Amino acid sequence: MKILLFGAMGQLGTELQRTLSPYGEIAAYDIHNLNLENTQEVRETIRLVSPDVIVNASAYTAVDQAEREAEKAFAVNGDIPGLFAEEASRLNAFLLHYSTDYVFDGRKGTPYLEGDTTNPLGVYGKSKLAGEEAIQAGNANYLILRTSWVYSRNRNSFVTKVLEWARKQEVLSIVSDQVSNPTWARTLADVTAELLGKGLDYLIKRRGLYHVAGNGYASRLDWAKKIIELDPNKQEQKVKEIRPALTSDFPTLAERPLFSALDCSLFQSTFEIPLPKWEDALKLAKRLQSSSRNIKRTSTTCVIACWVSLKWLKMLRRSLFCVPIRICIAMTKAGRLLPGCFRSLPTIVLIGSAAANFPSFRWMRRTRMVQPMRLPTPPPSTRKQNPSNMRSVTDFISS
Ligand SMILES: NC(=O)c1ccc[n+]([C@@H]2O[C@H](COP(=O)([O-])OP(=O)(O)OC[C@H]3O[C@@H](n4cnc5c(N)ncnc54)[C@H](OP(=O)(O)O)[C@@H]3O)[C@@H](O)[C@H]2O)c1
Repeated sequence: MKILLFGAMGQLGTELQRTLSPYGEIAAYDIHNLNLENTQEVRETIRLVSPDVIVNASAYTAVDQAEREAEKAFAVNGDIPGLFAEEASRLNAFLLHYSTDYVFDGRKGTPYLEGDTTNPLGVYGKSKLAGEEAIQAGNANYLILRTSWVYSRNRNSFVTKVLEWARKQEVLSIVSDQVSNPTWARTLADVTAELLGKGLDYLIKRRGLYHVAGNGYASRLDWAKKIIELDPNKQEQKVKEIRPALTSDFPTLAERPLFSALDCSLFQSTFEIPLPKWEDALKLAKRLQSSSRNIKRTSTTCVIACWVSLKWLKMLRRSLFCVPIRICIAMTKAGRLLPGCFRSLPTIVLIGSAAANFPSFRWMRRTRMVQPMRLPTPPPSTRKQNPSNMRSVTDFISS
């Protein structure tokens, strides 16, 4: 299976590169090698790769900035999915696309179903909805997976931000009136891989739009509390208090839906893929984060240890081999300057001094067969009055 992946360096795209690799050859693109605003190039790339599946994990996700860059947001989130659908239909390829809970206004009060009325509040939500509609209007076989509150450890997310704040501030104020399903990017990538594993015919029969997110929902405040509680490096935290706040306390450019939790039961029953509880996914994500940190720490220590050992080995080698060799060369050169009968003199001196310094010779000298005798202590009075009475060790040995 040939898979064409867009948004390969994003939170989800990074995970997808790993989870989709067993299913075939992946051609991965991101803004660094293909800007989706360049539609002609995008079309050419799709035709050149001629994939069996197009996975679109790319999106303009800067919710507030989208208010200022509406054109850009609509181009990437609205037009490009339509282009993907067009090309997928032309190539008879399958299109997998992701959308957002921000297509809802958050006023329903209970988790949203796929058929519920959409009413996005900001440009980001409107542009994503335009993307959904463009795909649905085409003839391609597709799956649109609406998800919410995606986090990962490889990019800036709410999880990484809370951990950062907890290390800098003693009091955190987190909004308690925004509610949805925290979704680990890896869960979403695993689910996508599982879907592909079921085969394209199976997916074509079930084509359409589904809600896929972490099981259960929480407020941002509860989510933040859990992130802080599960932090494997708690000793680094400064935070002492987490206070509830209101969305209105933090005015932002874009209005966000307050209750945008997604009901994912249709997806689970249709595809028989259970979704993990958001708390369990977070627990696993944190555990993995801590072990990868430990691996990083251990490998840094190993690199330093290897570097130090190599330095020491170099020094040792120089002192063991290079210095004596240099002395030998110097001595031989000196020997050449001497008249014929004395030429071997430096070599003899060298061998002699080496032998004298050879460890076993030194050991023999230290444990000489003739042990020094214990001196009988002379009476203090005589010693003081007549210093000539004092005798050296050598005197006793010789007598
Ligand atoms: N993040 C969330 O909380 C959330 C919530 C609900 C739904 N979703 C949806 O889930 C999907 C995956 O989201 P994510 O969190 O993985 O997003 P992400 O981390 O922002 O990744 C999106 C990727 O698309 C790339 N991209 C943006 N503009 C591009 C352009 N003009 N040309 C080429 N590439 C471009 C980005 O590159 P740069 O980063 O370099 O710009 C980034 O690598 C998206 O469809 C998103 O709408 C996300």
